[in-house]
Amino acid sequence: MPEPKRPVDDGLRVESDHGTSDPACGATDPNWLVSRRAFLISGAAAVAYVTIPVRLPGGGITTVRAEVANYPRQRIGRLSTLRTGEPVAFKYPWDDIQAENILIKLGHEAGGGIGPDDDIVAFNSWCTHQGGPLAGTFRSDPGTAGPCPLHWTTFDLTRHGMVVSGHATQGLPQILLEAEGDDIIATGVMGLIFGYQDNRVDPAGKGA
Ligand code: FES
Repeated sequence: MPEPKRPVDDGLRVESDHGTSDPACGATDPNWLVSRRAFLISGAAAVAYVTIPVRLPGGGITTVRAEVANYPRQRIGRLSTLRTGEPVAFKYPWDDIQAENILIKLGHEAGGGIGPDDDIVAFNSWCTHQGGPLAGTFRSDPGTAGPCPLHWTTFDLTRHGMVVSGHATQGLPQILLEAEGDDIIATGVMGLIFGYQDNRVDPAGKGA
């Protein structure tokens, strides 16, 4: 029997406490986190684990455990200086235009959010459809990125970047965050960054 085709590797595998994911799943199933980017990881890579809270449709929160492969830890900001609704740009995991991201304090709880109010999140700033620029479209209220200026996709920043409307079929890659004292640390990327075949491969050719 031929081996099933493996999707592009973005360096993450997420396991939900709700069981196996449906690869065809879309925006309403929490396991969409698992399937939206085929969170497969190459067997040889060293991994670490993070636990991510996930909002369920209709309320409630569950958790998923994500394997994070070979991502650097990078300080990207401070809790004490971040203001609600004032996005901050940063690059991660590479010093590359496609690795431009937005850190934002939403002012209300969000999936994967950190800080005292679990409301600080970060996402890549390029649309997953055809790479439209989203940097100027991040809004704390209601917690969205978009609409994309090219084909109007909007992403939900409170639900791990899931597609709300528009042409994109893949959620916006979320930058995994941790708080260390006052420091905000980027620890990984959940979802394939537009223009990359592997988030862990340095686009400048220097190696992961
Ligand atoms: S590039 Fe953003 S919706 Fe098409």
